Amino acid sequence: MTPAARTRRLGTTATFYDRIADVHNLALKLNGYKDSVAKFLKSLNLEVGPETMVLDSGSGTGIVTLAFHQAGFRPKKTIAFDLSRNSLKLALGQARKEKKIDPGNIAAVQGNILALPFADASFDIVLSCGVLEYVPLDEGLRETARILKPGGKLVLLPVKPSLVGSVLELLYNFKIHPLEDVRKISQRYFKIVGNYKFPIAEPIAWSKAIFLLEKK
Ligand SMILES: C[S@@+](CC[C@H](N)C(=O)[O-])C[C@H]1O[C@@H](n2cnc3c(N)ncnc32)[C@H](O)[C@@H]1O
Repeated sequence: MTPAARTRRLGTTATFYDRIADVHNLALKLNGYKDSVAKFLKSLNLEVGPETMVLDSGSGTGIVTLAFHQAGFRPKKTIAFDLSRNSLKLALGQARKEKKIDPGNIAAVQGNILALPFADASFDIVLSCGVLEYVPLDEGLRETARILKPGGKLVLLPVKPSLVGSVLELLYNFKIHPLEDVRKISQRYFKIVGNYKFPIAEPIAWSKAIFLLEKK
C-alpha cells in the first residue's frame, strides 16, 4: 500500500469508529463481552503491581481496559490508545463512572498503533484485542514489541477465522490474519506462553483467539 493510501485508510477507520462508538460500545456491553474478557484476564497469571505500566493498544471504547480493572488488576497506569477520538472519550467517561477505578490511573492517547508515541521498553503489559486486523501483522507486532520491556507480556486477542469473524470482517472492514501467521510471525519477537481455548458459551470465544506472549 502506498503511504497516501495508508493515510487515507487511517482516516477512514478513525471516522468509521468515531461514528459508531456509542453503538459499538452498547453492543459489547449487552452481549456480556466485557465480563467474559474480565473472567479470562483474571485467569491469567499476570504480575501486576503499583509500578506496572499497561497499554490497551487499539482500545476502542475501553472495554478491555475496564475488563482488566474489573478483573482486579491495579497497575500504576493504563493507557487507552486508539485512532478514534470519540471512542477514547467514551473510554474515559466510562472509567470515571467505575467505582473500582481511580480515574487518575487511566489516560487516553490518540494515534496509530504502527507509530506508537512511546519510548522503547516503556510498558510491562500490552493488551491488544481486535486491532492488528487493521495493519500488516509483522509491522504491528514489531512496533508492539518495541515498547514492551524484555519479559513484558502481550495479551493478544486476534479475531479468529470463523463465521462470526467473517461477518465482523465485512461489518468493520478489517482483514483476519490466519492463526498460523499469528503463531509464526509473533515468534519473531515473542515467546508463546499460552494459547487458550474458551468454552463457546463465553462471548469472548465467539470471535477471538487468545494468546499470551512474552517479549524476547
Ligand atoms: C474492533 S475495534 C476493537 C476495540 C477494542 N479493542 C475492543 O475489543 O472492544 C478496533 C479498534 O481499533 C482501532 N484501530 C484500527 N486501526 C488502528 C490503528 N492503526 N491505530 C490505532 N487504532 C486503530 C479502531 O479505531 C477501533 O477502535
